Amino acid sequence: MRRRGGEQPAGRAGRRAEGFPVAYRPVSLPLTGNRGKAGDVGGVRDARAVVTGGGAGIGAALARRLAAGGARVAVNDLDPARARAVAAEVGGVALPGDASGVVPAAREALGGGIDLFCANAGVGTGGGPEAADDAWSAAWDVNVMAHVRAARELLPEWLERGEGRFVATVSAAGLLSMVGAAPYSVTKHAALAFAEWLSLTYRHRGIAVHAVCPQGVRTDMLRATGAAGDLVLAPGAIEPEEVADAVVAGIAEDRFLILPHPEVAEYSAVRATDPDRWLTGMNRLQQSLESGPA
Ligand SMILES: NC(=O)c1ccc[n+]([C@@H]2O[C@H](COP(=O)([O-])OP(=O)(O)OC[C@H]3O[C@@H](n4cnc5c(N)ncnc54)[C@H](O)[C@@H]3O)[C@@H](O)[C@H]2O)c1
Repeated sequence: MRRRGGEQPAGRAGRRAEGFPVAYRPVSLPLTGNRGKAGDVGGVRDARAVVTGGGAGIGAALARRLAAGGARVAVNDLDPARARAVAAEVGGVALPGDASGVVPAAREALGGGIDLFCANAGVGTGGGPEAADDAWSAAWDVNVMAHVRAARELLPEWLERGEGRFVATVSAAGLLSMVGAAPYSVTKHAALAFAEWLSLTYRHRGIAVHAVCPQGVRTDMLRATGAAGDLVLAPGAIEPEEVADAVVAGIAEDRFLILPHPEVAEYSAVRATDPDRWLTGMNRLQQSLESGPA
């Protein structure tokens, strides 16, 4: 089964999804200690920026926010009409096609270089081990390998210049997990691991990396997530523009982990320190899903 969609439990602080079972105690995590090392490419102003999957949802909001901040934006999307519409709106260039392999065309379209690359395109593949191999492969291809291929193309330019910024739209499912969606959860964990690896390997050489890990965001992907999305994501869902604002704030602070839903840090701490408690809570969500709407 292949299904597009979403994220991991709960809503924002004070309005968590009903039934979210993990009682947590706020824990202070060293989530913001990454500043000041990476070369500043002006953050956003004057940046030559690329957004994959920029024709809708979070990517379109990112393209608009970056353009409003003074960036010149190349908008990639599998859907050519969407890429062109958003590019026209933000005074940028459209790059229709698959996110993988977009870097050379983007570099040319932006006048010879890229400062800021948003690896945002993603697919919300649902199901478990019974999902077909081609569904698992598609999730790996878009959610992970598109990031790897982009970095492979970008790093020589960035290392030579001693600056560059890579923004990976991951998901709270990359830190936690999403009920009903093993391919999505597994590939988002991999996307987060890749972003971490890039950051730990290249931060002393001027490369800044950000991992954006929202829970529910009101986009087509969330709307297509079905019962699991309705149960764990919709109650705390935010607008794509809020994610874009969080990204720009994270860039300004050179912060690796960008959490548009701040409570994700607390869930993540529970998962790390008391995994059985966290799994028991997640299993209760699974049982709620199986028993259907009350
Ligand atoms: N919506 C959520 O609740 C949510 C939460 C956390 C993370 N995310 C992540 O945010 C990113 C954007 O999701 P969204 O909710 O805006 O989705 P969306 O479905 O609203 O938009 C995604 C866009 O990406 C395009 N796209 C899909 N595959 C592509 C490919 N291979 N190459 C180029 N473009 C492609 C689609 O045509 C679409 O225009 C994804 O990586 C998703 O996993 C979404």
